[in-house]
Amino acid sequence: MTTEILKVENLMKDAENIARAAELLRAGEVVAIPTETVYGLAANALDGEAVEKIFVAKGRPQDNPLIVHIDDFSTLEKIVEEIPENAIKLAEAFWPGPLTMIFKKKDVIPSVVSAGRDTVGVRLPEHRIARAIIYTANYPLAAPSANTSGRPSPTKAKHVFDDMNGRISAIVDGGESGVGVESTVIDITRTPARLLRPGGITLAQLRSVLGEVEVDDAVVREISDDAEVNAPGMKYRHYAPKAPLVILDGCLEDSCDYVKKQEEKVAVLCFEEELEAFSKICDNVISYGTESNPAVLANKLFDALRAFDEMEIDRIYAREPKGGDGIELAVINRLEKSAGFTRIIL
Ligand code: TXA
Ligand code: MG
Repeated sequence: MTTEILKVENLMKDAENIARAAELLRAGEVVAIPTETVYGLAANALDGEAVEKIFVAKGRPQDNPLIVHIDDFSTLEKIVEEIPENAIKLAEAFWPGPLTMIFKKKDVIPSVVSAGRDTVGVRLPEHRIARAIIYTANYPLAAPSANTSGRPSPTKAKHVFDDMNGRISAIVDGGESGVGVESTVIDITRTPARLLRPGGITLAQLRSVLGEVEVDDAVVREISDDAEVNAPGMKYRHYAPKAPLVILDGCLEDSCDYVKKQEEKVAVLCFEEELEAFSKICDNVISYGTESNPAVLANKLFDALRAFDEMEIDRIYAREPKGGDGIELAVINRLEKSAGFTRIIL
């Protein structure tokens, strides 16, 4: 299959490309679209056969449900059984935006979307192009991140092209994603609500609206393959560059000593303030921003992980920000998953 590249810089000037993306989606094809978090691999959420194609293109396990994207709050009641009070509060505060809420689903959502569950994750994205495409297609769109299953999520059209060229009908190139990590996933079918995946909307923000929010185990520790989980996506190895990645946990001096001692070809993912020290002892160093600005770390993380795939290396050592209840929680979660929870404590 030839993958069309549909560039959209300006919604008016490039209206033809929006129309083309919508036409392909209405015909049951899979189209990658930009969102403010990461690029998504979209298909008509009400068409089970179209959604099947997403699973094939990604190589995604069948038991991992997809998020449904809408462009208007009024669509919500057509696809979910009930809208709890907490959902209305969160929608008022954070929609449109990087927040996915889990609802009891209506039958119009095919079971392939929800991976056989009776719930569905719904998000109203902020990105203008994403919303224009949903509006023009006139269907809610099921869309996981547009990477091959297991790889770092795409924050640029080029990342999508690298994984999906020849596998999907089109890629809408809308430039770089602003947030850089995926949406926050929260289960509001239970009380207190439970955070299933940290993301663009922080735990602190959620608590400021809801008061109590529980944090699912899967956010902070490894979940075994056969575990019965609330957040199915969290049990798979994820966000993995080709070379194995290990978190290096210690002060800068000890970390430099450790890297210097390695005999294999290593690379380092570090903070801006550490770049000079690591560059003296290692040829393959990438900074993803200063530790004190975790929004930038989130924005640069996946691009950096993908950049290591261009290097001849055996292992990547990564520096991780200190925990909190801000966006650093999402950075830590993605890094630990890409490391398969391996860490060297110095
Ligand atoms: O920012 C995002 O959320 C991006 C963009 C494209 O919107 N999408 C995304 O989708 O990250 P995906 O499929 O890569 O991740 C969806 C996550 C998975 O961890 C999945 O298990 C969880 O949401 N999820 C989806 N539906 C669920 C449900 N009904 N119950 C529990 N978890 C669910
Ligand atoms: Mg994903």
